[in-house]
Amino acid sequence: MKIRLDKYLADMGVGTRTETRRMVSKGQVRVNGAAVLKAEQKVETGHDEVSVNGVFVPYEEFEYYMLNKPAGIISASGDKREKTVVDLIESRRRKDLFPVGRLDRDTEGLLLITNDGALSHRLLSPRKHVDKVYYARVRGIVTADDVRRFEEGVDIGDEKHTLPARLVIQSNDESNMESEITLTIREGRFHQVKRMFQAVGKEVVYLKRIQMGSLVLDSTLRPGEYKKLDRKELEE
Ligand code: URA
Repeated sequence: MKIRLDKYLADMGVGTRTETRRMVSKGQVRVNGAAVLKAEQKVETGHDEVSVNGVFVPYEEFEYYMLNKPAGIISASGDKREKTVVDLIESRRRKDLFPVGRLDRDTEGLLLITNDGALSHRLLSPRKHVDKVYYARVRGIVTADDVRRFEEGVDIGDEKHTLPARLVIQSNDESNMESEITLTIREGRFHQVKRMFQAVGKEVVYLKRIQMGSLVLDSTLRPGEYKKLDRKELEE
């Protein structure tokens, strides 16, 4: 892809368009080893070698980050008043990052942050039925009957019942009246997991997404931590 030098640098987070234009005119930018003084000069991404003050700046069209979303942060790209999941990605270069889907403010866990719209569409499209796996602590004792009802689909107040979902009881704590479960759903309706448990008379008290398609949350990431993924890891 051929793009203007100032846009190349701005896309890579080197500065604003005005700042990058100034860097070029001051002779701080080289293309394939030669100083270039015109910001409108076109460069071929992935081929031409661009450096600023001697530091190589490779071009990345798409960035992918796996975030372990902490509770208390909203799933949005930007907000005037509040910190968002994208603001947590301090090493980001591109300005057009967004979260793939939403987790509730109080939900933790796997969130993919990217600027790749096509990938986002593939993961979120209702027709693609990508599995999402959640771990939850639930107030009330989850029973084999709940497992059966989730498998059949439950009425959560929408036009249609939920699609078959796989509920696995991890533990039942009778003294605290609490269960630990994992749940695999293939849709992404608003507050879906919480509403499914409400439909069987229970309440989710802690919710964390641990998998989306074949992408599994890295268990070494603490809430608020993230890691960069390359396209190959995602395609797998
Ligand atoms: N289901 C919910 O209820 N909340 C989430 O954040 C994700 C799935």
